[in-house]
Order: sequence, then structure tokens, then C-alpha cells
Amino acid sequence: MKNIKAIIFDAYGTLFDVNSAAEKCKEKIGDKWEGFANYWRTTQLEYTWLRSLMKRHKDFWQVTEESLDKSMKTYEIDSSMRNELLDLYKILSTFKEVPEVLKSLKKKDFKLAILSNGTPALLNELVKSNNLENIFDDIFSIEEVGVYKPDFKVYDIPIKKYHIQRNEVAFLSANTWDVSGGGNYGYNSIWVNRNNNIFDNLDYVLKHQIDDLSKLLDII
Ligand code: LAC
Repeated sequence: MKNIKAIIFDAYGTLFDVNSAAEKCKEKIGDKWEGFANYWRTTQLEYTWLRSLMKRHKDFWQVTEESLDKSMKTYEIDSSMRNELLDLYKILSTFKEVPEVLKSLKKKDFKLAILSNGTPALLNELVKSNNLENIFDDIFSIEEVGVYKPDFKVYDIPIKKYHIQRNEVAFLSANTWDVSGGGNYGYNSIWVNRNNNIFDNLDYVLKHQIDDLSKLLDII
């Protein structure tokens, strides 16, 4: 990978562990916590894609609440858990290597940014609650364009802001479909494959994968 000028990170699932909200409630939820957490995440993502296709945008917080409500009914989780789960979703933990990697990247000469479906308020709170203020040059939210990933309008946001070429971006996501979305757009997409999963068949031939972010500096 040559001439990288900006390193852009997906947020949910890549920097921040989306399962950590349900995991913190696993005593109360019981063994089904992980199935429930995965179902909530899948439903949340489906709602983003479907809302973009239906042209009925709601922001990521509304989508997160509405997908939670369906998931709680499906998994028969007591409604008294709703507020606790939502509050925890606002302060998701990072994956463990993330703070140190970001701090070492900050010393190098790249633009560092987040590009996420999250609202500006949600993303700022996540960054703040994990003591990551002062790391990112920008926190880009899809709210700027009113449509969710993988619409190309989203991937255009940092290109326009930084006046750089698509192939001057290293884009990191743990979400296979987002890696394909960014890759089809023209980014150097890097899959953060923490769980040894299988890649998607979405017209993008994977070129780079790492098993956690600490391997990033070896490949850019
Ligand atoms: C995001 C979703 C894709 O942060 O995880 O944009």
C-alpha cells in the first residue's frame, strides 16, 4: 500500500465492541445473551440498509432502539432491561488493542478519522467515554449525507474533506460488507477479521486482512 494519506476507521464492531452492552448484562440475560446480541446487531444493520432503500431515513439511535425492541421480543428479554441496554450502548468498550494502536498512529503523519453510521452525538460520546479525545482529526457521520453505508455518498465524505484520491485512504472495518463497500468505492480496504470468519461475495476481492488493529502498521 503506497501513498496512504488518511487512515479511516469504521466505528461499530471495528473500534467499539457492539456485543459489550449485552455482555455486561449477561448475568441478568443468561446464556442467550450472545445470540440476542448478534440478533440485535443484525437487525440494526438490516434496518439501515432497508431504510436507505426505502428512502425513509431515521438516525442510528432510532434504528438502534427499534431493532432492540424487536430483538427483546424475539429473545423474550424482560422490558425492564431496555434502558440499561441502551445506556450501555452509548458507552461501548473498545477492543483491547485499540487505544494503544490509535495513540501510536497519532504520532505518524496520517489523517486519522472515523467514518460511521452513528450520529455525531453518539460517536462523540463513545470517543469520550473511552478517553480517545484528541486522537481523531475528524469524526465523520453519515448524517451529513442522510443515507447509510454502503452508499458511495458516505465514502465520498472524507475524500471531499481532505481533497485526496480514493486510493490514498486505508479503510479499516471488521464488517465484511463495509470492507466490500469501501473497496468497491476505491479505498484500500482492510478487513479486521478478529474471529477468523469467512469473507463476503460482493464483487470485491479482498486484498488485505489483519486479525486485530495492532498489525496495521506492518501493512501500510
Ligand atoms: C458503522 C457501522 C457499520 O460504524 O458499524 O458505520
